[in-house]
Amino acid sequence: MSGLLSGKTAIILGLANRWSIAYAIAQAYQREGARLILTYQNERQQKTVEELGAGVGAERVVACDVSKDEEIAALAAALQADGVKLDVVVHSIAFANPEDLARPFVETSRAGFALAHDVSAYSLVAVSRALAPLMTEGGSILTLSYLGAVRVVENYNVMGVAKAALEASVRYLAANLGASNVRVNAISAGPIKTAAARGIKDFSKVLGGVAALAPMKRNTDPAEVADTAVFLASPLGRGVTGNVIYVDGGFQIMGLSAGS
Ligand SMILES: NC(=O)c1ccc[n+]([C@@H]2O[C@H](COP(=O)([O-])OP(=O)(O)OC[C@H]3O[C@@H](n4cnc5c(N)ncnc54)[C@H](O)[C@@H]3O)[C@@H](O)[C@H]2O)c1
Repeated sequence: MSGLLSGKTAIILGLANRWSIAYAIAQAYQREGARLILTYQNERQQKTVEELGAGVGAERVVACDVSKDEEIAALAAALQADGVKLDVVVHSIAFANPEDLARPFVETSRAGFALAHDVSAYSLVAVSRALAPLMTEGGSILTLSYLGAVRVVENYNVMGVAKAALEASVRYLAANLGASNVRVNAISAGPIKTAAARGIKDFSKVLGGVAALAPMKRNTDPAEVADTAVFLASPLGRGVTGNVIYVDGGFQIMGLSAGS
């Protein structure tokens, strides 16, 4: 494969380090010829993201904390002022209080519930509203979800409920933006060892369990998620909107198997 995204400009939000799913997507987008803009959450990540950005030829590396409306507005204004036309927006962001991912869901506080939904679901709405106007020739917005949106996954807790809100937001955004030829989709990835995943109690047991039960008998490679992100961003995905595509080695189709 090469050149599937040539002539396209993609902004990727949510790259923290070389294990981030967003980094795998940036690498795949570079391979396919996209021009890249990366954002980072805060100063703590700036140097790392700038270094990784240089490695993938990113044209800009900009700060954007998506829990702050003013930072989203400043990002959109800066791109608009420079006449940037966007074709692809990748939202690869989630956060919940670690304690809410360790104790029973029923104990989730009002503040913890609101925080998880604000950062992990509402931010897609806010980012889409700010950046869709720069997609003047249509485009593709995509986000990352997880099976915990639709099934109970132990310790995923409030993040699962936030992912359910995220997936519903994908459908409503797709309906709103479709007439402008902007498509909105989610990729539901199998578990991958990243900084965000390390916040989930017993995550390594989840990895082992998934590899044992999944039809493909292995865990998900971030590069597989990234290639689906290429498909959704490219003309090959032009008829696909409002969907959640599973890239999980087939795990989500399974019920019980003998011995599990
Ligand atoms: N790793 C997995 O097993 C897995 C599986 C399915 C879906 N996902 C989803 O993939 C996405 C990326 O996660 P990851 O696993 O690559 O981990 P990661 O820790 O590398 O990425 C999470 C990103 O969210 C960013 N973020 C958090 N709060 C933010 C804020 N207020 N403003 C801006 N950025 C903020 C972090 O800075 C980080 O870059 C998340 O939505 C996650 O839920 C991960």
